[in-house]
Amino acid sequence: MKPSKLFGLLMIMASAFLFVQCTSELPEPIQGPPGVDGQDGVDGQDGISGTASCVSCHNNTLRGEIAMAFDISAHASGSVAFAEGRTDGNCASCHGNDGFIDFIETGAAPGPYSFRSPIECMTCHSSHLTFDFENDGPDYALRNPDPTGLVLAPSITLDFGDASNNCISCHQPRNSYEIPALNADGTVQIKSTRYGPHHSPQATMLEGILGAEIPGGENYPARGTATHRTASSCVQCHMGESSDAATGGHTWTPIVENCIECHQAVPGEANGFSNDMNTLLGLLMAVEGQAVELDADGDPVLDANGDLIPVAGTVTGILMANGRSNYGIFSDVAAIAAWNYKTALEDQSRGIHNPDYTKALLKNSIEALQNEN
Ligand code: HEC
Ligand code: HEC
Ligand code: HEC
Ligand code: HEC
Ligand code: HEC
Ligand code: HEC
Repeated sequence: MKPSKLFGLLMIMASAFLFVQCTSELPEPIQGPPGVDGQDGVDGQDGISGTASCVSCHNNTLRGEIAMAFDISAHASGSVAFAEGRTDGNCASCHGNDGFIDFIETGAAPGPYSFRSPIECMTCHSSHLTFDFENDGPDYALRNPDPTGLVLAPSITLDFGDASNNCISCHQPRNSYEIPALNADGTVQIKSTRYGPHHSPQATMLEGILGAEIPGGENYPARGTATHRTASSCVQCHMGESSDAATGGHTWTPIVENCIECHQAVPGEANGFSNDMNTLLGLLMAVEGQAVELDADGDPVLDANGDLIPVAGTVTGILMANGRSNYGIFSDVAAIAAWNYKTALEDQSRGIHNPDYTKALLKNSIEALQNEN
C-alpha cells in the first residue's frame, strides 16, 4: 500500500470511530449507595469584626488603665538607666528605646544614643502588620511578634506562638561568655567578676535550653516540654487579665490567682529550690582555682593570646557570697556549676519558669562538684 492510501484509510477509520462516539447513547450512570454523613466540624471562633475591633483596643478607658499599669512596671522605671545609651556590650539593644528599635530593624545597635532613652509604649509597639485580624490574629501592633533567634546560640530560634515572642529579644542571656563545657584541658579561665549569663535568661529557661548540661542523676527534660511552656506563656502569666490593678497587663507582675487553674495552691518555688541553691553556692565558694597575675588596679593581666597568666597560689571560691566571680583558672566542672547557679539565680523565678530543667541543672551541678572533691 502506498503511504497516501494508508493515510486515507486511517482517516476513514478515525472518522467512523468519531461518528460512533457522537451518536451512541451513553449508558445510564449507576448510582452508588449513599455515603455515611460526615462528623460536624468544630465551630469556628468568632472573628474580630470591622471597625468594632479597632475600638476594643483603641479607646481612652483602656488606654488610661494601660498607662497606669505601665507606670508602675519595671519597664517604665528604667532602673538600669546607665545601660540605655551604652553601646559596648550591646546594652542599649535591650535597655533603651532607641537601641532596641535599631536592633529589631537592623540587627545591630551601634548608636550613639542619648543617655536617657527609656522603654516606652512605642518601644514594643509600632504599626499593625495587617488589619486582617480575622485571618492573621491580632498582632497588637507589636514590632517583633515573630519567632526570634538567640544571640548566644544563633542556630536556635524560639517561637512561643503568641505575643510572648515580644519578650525573647530582651529576656535572653546576652552574648557575654561562652557556655562552659567539659573540655580536654579540664579548665576554664574566669576573666570577669560577672561570670555567667546576663540578668535575663527567662526565655531560654522557659524553653529549657542554654544551661551547661553536665551529666548526672537527673534527666534534662527535652527542649520545650515544660507545661509552663506548652500550656502557658510569658504573656499569660505576666500580662493576663487580673482583678488586681497591681498585677497582670502592663504591670508585667505575674498573676498568681491564675496559677490555681492548674495548681491546688500557689507554689512559691520549684521543689527544693532554695536548699539546692544554698548547697550549690556553698560548694562554689569552697572550690579552689589557680591564682593569676593581677595589675595594680586588681584587674587580670592577659598575655598576647588573651589568656590569664598563672602565678603561685590558689584562689578560694569561683563565686563569692554576693554571686560575683573571682578571677582565676578553675576546673571545667566548677565553671559549669557556676554557670548553672547564675542561670537559676538570674532567671529570678525561683525555678518556676521551668521547674524540672532548673532542678536537673542544680542537682547535677551539686553531684559533679561533690564527685570532684
Ligand atoms: C488587639 C488590639 C488592637 C486592635 C484590635 C487594633 N489595634 Fe491598632 N494598635 C494597637 C496597639 C497596641 C497599637 C500601638 C500604638 C498605640 O497603642 O497607640 C496600635 C496602633 C495603631 C495605629 C498607629 C500606627 C502607627 O504607626 O502609629 C493605627 C493607625 C491603628 N492601630 C489602627 C487600627 C485600626 C484601624 C484598627 C481596626 C481595624 C486597629 N488598629 C485595631 C492595638 C490594636
Ligand atoms: C539581651 C538583652 C540585654 C542586653 C544586651 C543587656 N541587658 Fe541588662 N538586662 C536585661 C534584662 C531583660 C534585664 C532585667 C532582667 C530581670 O530583672 O530579671 C536586665 C537587667 C540588668 C541589670 C539589673 C540587674 C539587677 O539585678 O537588678 C543591670 C545592672 C544590667 N542589666 C546592665 C546591663 C549592661 C551594663 C549591659 C551592657 C554591657 C546590659 N545590661 C546588656 C537585658 C539585657
Ligand atoms: C515591653 C513591651 C511593651 C510595652 C513597653 C508596652 N506594651 Fe502594650 N502590649 C505588649 C504586649 C506583648 C501585648 C499583648 C499582650 C497579650 O497578648 O495579652 C500588648 C498589648 C497592648 C494593647 C492591646 C490590648 C490590651 O488589652 O492590652 C494595647 C492597647 C497596648 N498594649 C497599649 C500599650 C500602651 C499604651 C503602652 C504604653 C503605656 C504599651 N502598650 C507599652 C507589649 C508592650
Ligand atoms: C526592649 C526590651 C524588652 C522587652 C521587649 C521586654 N522586656 Fe521585660 N525588661 C526589660 C528590661 C531592660 C528590664 C529591666 C528594667 C529596668 O530595670 O530597667 C525588664 C524588666 C522586666 C520585668 C521585671 C523584672 C524585675 O526585676 O522587676 C518583667 C517581669 C519583665 N520585664 C517581663 C517581660 C515580658 C513578659 C515581656 C514580653 C511581653 C518583656 N518583659 C518584654 C527589657 C524588655
Ligand atoms: C507559669 C507562669 C510563668 C510563665 C509562663 C513565665 N513567667 Fe516569668 N515569672 C513567673 C513567676 C511566678 C515569677 C516570680 C515572680 C516573683 O518572684 O515575684 C516570674 C519571674 C519573672 C521575672 C523576674 C521578675 C522579678 O520581679 O524579678 C522576669 C523578668 C520574668 N519572669 C519574665 C518572663 C518571661 C520573659 C517569660 C517568657 C519567656 C516568663 N517570665 C514566663 C511566672 C511565669
Ligand atoms: C497550664 C497549667 C499551669 C499553670 C497555669 C501553672 N502551672 Fe505550675 N505547673 C504545672 C504543671 C503540669 C507542673 C508540673 C511540671 C510540668 O509538667 O512541667 C507545674 C509545676 C510547677 C512548679 C514545680 C513544682 C515542683 O514540684 O517542683 C511550680 C513551683 C509551679 N508550677 C508554680 C506555678 C506558678 C507560681 C504559677 C502561676 C504563676 C503556675 N505554676 C501556673 C501547670 C501549670
